[in-house]
Amino acid sequence: MGSVLVVGSGLAGLTAAVRATDAGHDVTLVTKASLPESNTRHAQGGIAAAMFRDDSVDTHILDTLRAGAGLCDAEAVRVLCAEGPARVRDLIRFGVDFDRDDSGLTRGLEAAHSRSRVLHAGGDATGAEIEAALVATVRARAAAQGSAAVGRLRILEHTMLTDLVVRGGRVVGATVVGAGGLDMLDHRELDHRVLDADAVILATGGAGSLYRHTTNPALATGDGVAAAWRAGASVADLEFYQFHPTALAIPGTPLVSEAVRGEGAVLRNAKGERFLLAAHPDAELGPRDVVARAIAREMAAQGGEPVLLDATGLGRELLEARFPTITEACRAAGLDWALEPIPVAPAAHYWMGGIVTDVWGRSSLPGLYAVGEAARTGAHGANRLASNSLLEAAVFADRAVRALSLPLAPSDPLPDPLPDPFSEFDADFARHAALALPRAVTPPEMSGEFGGAERDGERGRASGFSREALQGLMWESAGVLRSGAGLAAAAVTLAGWTRPETGPGASVSAHEDANLLDLARLTVQAALAREESRGAHHRVDFPSARAELAYPLVWALGGDRAT
Ligand code: SIN
Repeated sequence: MGSVLVVGSGLAGLTAAVRATDAGHDVTLVTKASLPESNTRHAQGGIAAAMFRDDSVDTHILDTLRAGAGLCDAEAVRVLCAEGPARVRDLIRFGVDFDRDDSGLTRGLEAAHSRSRVLHAGGDATGAEIEAALVATVRARAAAQGSAAVGRLRILEHTMLTDLVVRGGRVVGATVVGAGGLDMLDHRELDHRVLDADAVILATGGAGSLYRHTTNPALATGDGVAAAWRAGASVADLEFYQFHPTALAIPGTPLVSEAVRGEGAVLRNAKGERFLLAAHPDAELGPRDVVARAIAREMAAQGGEPVLLDATGLGRELLEARFPTITEACRAAGLDWALEPIPVAPAAHYWMGGIVTDVWGRSSLPGLYAVGEAARTGAHGANRLASNSLLEAAVFADRAVRALSLPLAPSDPLPDPLPDPFSEFDADFARHAALALPRAVTPPEMSGEFGGAERDGERGRASGFSREALQGLMWESAGVLRSGAGLAAAAVTLAGWTRPETGPGASVSAHEDANLLDLARLTVQAALAREESRGAHHRVDFPSARAELAYPLVWALGGDRAT
């Protein structure tokens, strides 16, 4: 038994904290906002698992591999799908009240699933229900501390992870022994000794704040991925950012779950035409990346105007009962979606890339584990299958805690990491690439509030760094449709921006901005390096997948592998 620092309080972090406490570890759970605030809380559609007679683990594996466009790690997918049903049953034991009818659990259909297998709770409030049940469980464990049955659990809310504490060499021989935290209530750097730990489990989620439009809450600034990378951990698949096709195209409003299309809603352009019939045989239920790109192109063709999601055929009764959160959001925006189609547009939703881990949640640095969206397990490949993310969080958080007590040898089958993209080489490479790439091939121009992909990412080049400038640059250059020339120009802009100071006294937003800038540089570099289109990464100058590139791009500071 040892001390474990868990960072993040979504499904992955809360599961890790509960499991580690139950295993007798002395746990500190650190979270950036209040305990219930997380990306999990905003998840609508549900959690996918092969729980029904007409389904099987093998079918779920096949669907996941197919969506992943040749980049999945087969073992990670097998673990995800095989252990998923047991982890869903754990959630039920923790008190999650999944929706049921007379015949048992009810299930929805989402894009690229060959079976209806998506469990939901509270209609479209699945994440909120899961979060509430796990927060209650964690608080109960914290209250029971000192009892013989469980380890101690201390909860530090409003505390931001700043950097990891690494003992030994910067990369070779490095061991993670803790983390720095910033107390967000009074901006006081916590003493690193307070957060010393035998193991650190990062469950810090994704980085939707890299983009102008996102379904994530503003706190999703990739703090864990950035800190792990700075500590020398390998990161991979950063170029694969999934854009949800249908966020309500009104700033500050939530996504409109894919489950709505699963129930039969259709997408129409400004002329009222169902344009997806021409884009994929499964039309509105085609893979998420295909649907997002078709919408982006349709928006470009209609001057940046959002497309319309027509759910009027579903009837008011079903919409209100099955999708109460979306119904309320529409009502608050002055829309009645039972009577009229609603405007939707793609938004950054989920990062397939992140901290490289094996199937036990272990990163390339001893002592450092990553679970949930912060991790790159390889289970999602180039394009995550809908509703596999909550499942991944539950499955791999459980495994990471089991791994704490297993004497396992490191096993990292990924290719050697590429060199530090922050070096001089980076800016030079970007400049040369910008000159060499065919400038004639650029994404279709989109304008308007929800448009993007402005030519060559030129916006932002003239101005200095600000979070808004970074989000605009990423949206336009590293969004749904990308070009080598646009990415190269963005890399030059990013290389020219001064990284915000993060020394003593720096604010929370300075730390977040520095993380976003680190991650934007890495993401753009990765997108530039992947000269093909695969899954969520679409290059208009390389519109097809290239078989010889069906491997992950792994990056690490110094380009050396930790041992
Ligand atoms: C949705 O409800 O459409 C989102 C589900 C997911 O991202 O897995």
